[in-house]
Amino acid sequence: MTVTPSAAVTPGPVPVRVRTVPGSAGGLRAARKLLRADPLAGLVRLRQTHGPVVRLSSRPLSAFLVADPDAIADVLVGSHRSYRRGFVRRGPGSRGTAVQPLTMVLGQGLLTSSGELHRRQRRLMQPLFHHQRIFEYGETFAAIADARAARWRDGQRLDVHDEMIEMTLAMVTKTLFDADTDSDIVAVIRAAISENTVAARKALHAGFELLERLPLPSARRRRSSRQALDQVVYGLIERRRREGAQGQDLLSLLLSARDADTGDGMDDTQVRDEALTIMLAGHETTANALTWTFHLLGRHPEVAAALRAELDSVLAGRCPTVADLPRLPFTDAVLNESMRLYPPVWAMSRYLVEDRVVGGYPLPAGSTLLLSQWVVHRDEKWWPEPERFDPERWIGDRADPDRPRYAYFPFGGGPHQCIGNSFARTEGVLALATIARHWTFEPVPGLEITPEPLVTLRPRDGLPMTVRRRG
Ligand code: HEM
Repeated sequence: MTVTPSAAVTPGPVPVRVRTVPGSAGGLRAARKLLRADPLAGLVRLRQTHGPVVRLSSRPLSAFLVADPDAIADVLVGSHRSYRRGFVRRGPGSRGTAVQPLTMVLGQGLLTSSGELHRRQRRLMQPLFHHQRIFEYGETFAAIADARAARWRDGQRLDVHDEMIEMTLAMVTKTLFDADTDSDIVAVIRAAISENTVAARKALHAGFELLERLPLPSARRRRSSRQALDQVVYGLIERRRREGAQGQDLLSLLLSARDADTGDGMDDTQVRDEALTIMLAGHETTANALTWTFHLLGRHPEVAAALRAELDSVLAGRCPTVADLPRLPFTDAVLNESMRLYPPVWAMSRYLVEDRVVGGYPLPAGSTLLLSQWVVHRDEKWWPEPERFDPERWIGDRADPDRPRYAYFPFGGGPHQCIGNSFARTEGVLALATIARHWTFEPVPGLEITPEPLVTLRPRDGLPMTVRRRG
């Protein structure tokens, strides 16, 4: 087990006059109670009560919510060199240990690395995400969505979340790995995700690294799920090496890359970390975006009807292509609005490597900042009637050009902005259009759907819905 990078962080003196961050005056216990009961509602409440910068806890994290779009822009873009991804955990008497729990599964891939390694790997992978390439993937996106929907029967009860996970995994493996997913791969990946993302929370506690090495049943399950995942990915790498790595896919690109100075290639561990990162980051997020979209459409029949009207008039029953995208503005708006209300990445964390003023408050090195899409996307300062599912707010005059850029940031921003941004948007709109032209999903009466904020935002117990074929 590796929880890296791990480094001592020395909080230095705060250079400017200390202004106490709201929420800290005797309110930490109350904040903890609120967040434990319901972290999503609790964060929104704390922002409403105390303003856009709020102290959340002092131990094991010295953590602050940052929900001001300009302050978020500064963290992600303007002053990004003062921050690292992850958080700093403090134990009694400890100065702090920097922790990035995702490294447990992903090693040092694009999502977890920083500095020169990150820059080099990002440059290397960027060509796979150029617009032209994504246009070429369009046909595969629609074909896979169409094939998945062809398995459904009118009136069948489905777990929409399961369906979307399997569909988007097939889309990523086909377009970026030139491989077909079989059900074994899906099962291995799902087991590794569910075992390890739940464990990511435990990384908050001192002693986590030690506990992970002990022969405890839960730690053992996590280790074996990661080993199974490794077997899948190393199997793909080995096959590609045997075939000569001549293709245009991600594995061929990684295997044939050479360092400009030394001429050295990447070792298998680095190729594994990058491949796994793309496979995991590239399917669960889009699956969640589509899952929440069908959940919202099921509860807003008037929006579902407007969506069908657009699809009928533009597609007249045929499968969509990338050429149709500019003519599907409402479909695009539905996806935008769904990611506003249910951002697949609901929060990102950064910690300070030096003292810095954040949103007007001086914070010392070692502070952990929570930048939460869930909170900012529901702030009525930027979004009138924030709880309302209203795709029209993305269209025409209502698409407010004066809204700050980081009032909406489902894909993050700055040097770590999602590399799969255009890939996901194209995939999402084409999948939604392909499915919704023939099918609707009805909610199960009386069934509450609860969002669960783990690494991504998913429905806690899946999303059972009844599927109906349109006449
Ligand atoms: C709706 C779908 C998606 C959402 C909402 C999303 C969201 C995000 C966010 C917020 C980040 C920034 C994390 C941070 O700064 O800490 C990120 C990074 C990343 N995403 Fe996505 N993502 C999506 C789809 C994809 C897809 C389809 C891929 C690949 C095929 C992908 C690959 C990545 C990678 C590799 C990174 C790390 C980038 C870097 O640090 O350079 N994502 N994503």
